[in-house]
Amino acid sequence: MDAGASPDMSGIRIEAITAAHIDSFHRTLDIVAREKKYLSMTEATPLPQTREFVMGMIAKGNPQFVAVTCEEVVGWCDISRHFFPSHAHRGNLGMGILPAYRGQGLGRRLMETTLRAAQKTGFARVELDVYEDNSRAIALYEKLGFVREGIIRRAARIDGRFIDAIGMALLFDEDGSA
Ligand SMILES: CC(C)(COP(=O)(O)OP(=O)(O)OC[C@H]1O[C@@H](n2cnc3c(N)ncnc32)[C@H](O)[C@@H]1OP(=O)(O)O)[C@@H](O)C(=O)NCCC(=O)NCCS
Repeated sequence: MDAGASPDMSGIRIEAITAAHIDSFHRTLDIVAREKKYLSMTEATPLPQTREFVMGMIAKGNPQFVAVTCEEVVGWCDISRHFFPSHAHRGNLGMGILPAYRGQGLGRRLMETTLRAAQKTGFARVELDVYEDNSRAIALYEKLGFVREGIIRRAARIDGRFIDAIGMALLFDEDGSA
């Protein structure tokens, strides 16, 4: 898409990720990572590792959804289950959207779909860390019921600058409600 042009949001579909999405997902992940403002990654992992990650998510039944338009992935949201059995009710959420597609409700759509899937697959707690200056992400998380649990001081150091993060979590009740 041309820089500065407004994208058409009407045809964007939210789909469960498949192997066919991986190349495009990798490109989108790399663009968001290289902004060096939002993600722990400052560039995408190499394509083979990204492929392994996605295929692992699919094999484990972890929710991972992508926003797709014109066969291109423009955003994603995923929830990785913790490894140890005593923590297996917990999932870690990550997400990102290409700059031109932000601020138009796509983040909410992606999260609602992914959280619904997480609830169905038995997660009891979804958690995330968000940099304290990421006001749009914090606003979205709070609107969807995430609660601040604490500050992770000096959570990241990017280009020599320390950034604090806010630890947030959403608990699903035992009856399945958020
Ligand atoms: C964070 C991100 C996923 C949010 O998705 P989005 O599509 O841009 O967000 P939405 O349009 O769904 O807006 C989220 C809500 O925040 C509100 N909002 C938007 N910008 C805001 C701002 N600067 N301050 C406060 N609230 C804001 C919106 O009004 C919206 O609320 P609503 O649904 O009640 O209208 C997206 O902006 C993104 O990819 N950012 C870069 C990567 C990133 O930050 N990833 C998360 C790392 S923890």
